[in-house]
Amino acid sequence: MNQEALLRVEKLNAFFKKEDGKIQALKDVSFQVNKGELLAIVGESGCGKSLTSLSIMGLTAKSCQVEAEYIDFQGENLLKISPARLRQLRGKELAMIFQEPLTSLNPLFTIGFQLTETICLHNPVNKKQAREIAVETLKKVEIPRPERILSEYPNALSGGMRQRVMIAMALVNKPSLLIADEPTTALDVTIQAQILFLMKHLMREYHTSIMFITHDLGVVAEMADRVMVMYAGQIVEEANVYDLFSRPLHPYTQGLMNSTIKIDQTDDLLATIPGTVPSLADMPEGCRFHPRCPLAKDECRRICPDLVETEPGRKVRCLQRGGEGSIRFRGSECPENMDKGGNDNG
Ligand SMILES: Nc1ncnc2c1ncn2[C@@H]1O[C@H](COP(=O)(O)OP(=O)(O)O)[C@@H](O)[C@H]1O
Ligand SMILES: [Mg+2]
Repeated sequence: MNQEALLRVEKLNAFFKKEDGKIQALKDVSFQVNKGELLAIVGESGCGKSLTSLSIMGLTAKSCQVEAEYIDFQGENLLKISPARLRQLRGKELAMIFQEPLTSLNPLFTIGFQLTETICLHNPVNKKQAREIAVETLKKVEIPRPERILSEYPNALSGGMRQRVMIAMALVNKPSLLIADEPTTALDVTIQAQILFLMKHLMREYHTSIMFITHDLGVVAEMADRVMVMYAGQIVEEANVYDLFSRPLHPYTQGLMNSTIKIDQTDDLLATIPGTVPSLADMPEGCRFHPRCPLAKDECRRICPDLVETEPGRKVRCLQRGGEGSIRFRGSECPENMDKGGNDNG
């Protein structure tokens, strides 16, 4: 890849502590977000999308243990820096917005107070200047009469307005990376489209890269430069948006796409893949998708495939789709008749 990385995540693993040991929720998640790009992370509910972003932000639950070789953000390993430094980055360089803005807006304080506080904490400005920046930013997210909104409490705003305020809050310090976790899922379709358009526009204006989490492939097609598909705590496919939609390689990605086409927008888009995401406590042996996979063969029940680069910038984790239609045996357990033609860098 000739693109410059902003964030590089290497072998991210996450575990939840249980009474009888621990269960693994993320397994060897490695990827990067490049400067200026919008990387979408897609997958059904429970596949580890939120956990991936919370791990990067250092905001996982107490019961969660996060390990990685590194999470490198602009040359700093987020797992090694001090809590104070991490807080500093989170307010300025690294921002996150969530599905439900009320979880990140404090209902007890006015929008104006919360915005100006964020600005003052990270910039050498006085209250008056902070207020001006706040108004400017609210204008950018197309909030009408921003001066008036400053004195409102979050609960007084509509869902769409609250989400705009959240975006303003996230962008006010011009972060280099914005992690947006299903930022529009709670909104109706028209407002959703407006907010997505706005985010894409602001991304260019602020030179912010975005890691965009969604379960909606329509949104991915609209927004993303590159896409990472997650299933059961692992990355199963990675590609640029054009290649992914024109030639999805993983049977799971293909299933997601079929579902999107078949069902109208109000339904659960992912409902047509038979079965459900396995529970963490009961992961299938071999490929984690094999119980739901139309292509599953015997080997798929035994071997957990590696994520293999099939061409520059394209990766897939599937024994049946290691290359264009060809079968490659690559995984943690090798079958007797190893494919000779496979690329052997592992
Ligand atoms: N606090 C928690 N305690 C136990 N398990 C959790 C917790 N948070 C998430 N998980 C589990 O981790 C997995 C990944 O969850 P999550 O990242 O929220 O999925 P997604 O965002 O893709 O819907 C799920 O199986 C979920 O049940
Ligand atoms: Mg989630």
